[in-house]
Amino acid sequence: MNASEAAAKVMVALDKPDAATALRIAEALRHFGCWMKIGMELFYAAGPDIVRECRKLGFRVFLDLKLHDIPNTVKGAARSIARLGADMFNVHAAGGTAMMRAAAEGAAEGAASAGLSAPPLIVAVTQLTSTTREMMNEEIGIPGEVADTVTRYAMLAKKAGLHGVVASPLEAAAVKRACGRGFLTVTPGIRPSGHAAGDQRRIATPREAVRAGADFLVVGRPVTAAPDPAAALEQILKEMTEA
Ligand code: C5P
Repeated sequence: MNASEAAAKVMVALDKPDAATALRIAEALRHFGCWMKIGMELFYAAGPDIVRECRKLGFRVFLDLKLHDIPNTVKGAARSIARLGADMFNVHAAGGTAMMRAAAEGAAEGAASAGLSAPPLIVAVTQLTSTTREMMNEEIGIPGEVADTVTRYAMLAKKAGLHGVVASPLEAAAVKRACGRGFLTVTPGIRPSGHAAGDQRRIATPREAVRAGADFLVVGRPVTAAPDPAAALEQILKEMTEA
């Protein structure tokens, strides 16, 4: 894998409180050809325009709003997201297959009504990378290993016609075994060695994520909180190309 192939697999999580701060980082990373991931913090502050701005800068955009509601509401949200031109968005697998199917229908309708050539990719959130086994067992009430829930949710997402899942790099290989190589794995919880885990629990280095077969590596704070985000990304790409 060369550096530009590596960059096409990286999604920088622009978790910033306003458009100006986010766009300053985006500008600095423009030449790499990576994706931008726009999550709740930025989207709720800056609105749909931030998606358009990032696309104007040439980025592909993963809109990470983790939809989880009744099927009809999710269908409408997916329609709006597709019309906005996002390249990928996500829903919680815990919403069930009817909700996930509704997301796919909404996305197809939205893309068609906006005259887009293809609907956005849709991936399902399995278990957040901040979730430990104890939390899942004792608080959420799901027994067993995290990896087993992730795989079960992944198979559900595949059955619903989605393109892949968000999962920890530690589970990417198991997801691929269960759902096939073509089923996408988007992996947050990426921490180059020497970086603070923060609130993340199920983490891996960029090298480990690539080796596990992850299709996309979501990297937030290691890049966006670095004094020089471009240099930090460069270092991550280097690690990926050596994997
Ligand atoms: O800063 P950091 O690298 O931890 O950012 C990870 C990003 O991935 C955050 O934007 C977080 O919302 C997102 N994410 C996650 N775990 C998931 C799904 C999304 O950490 N399961």
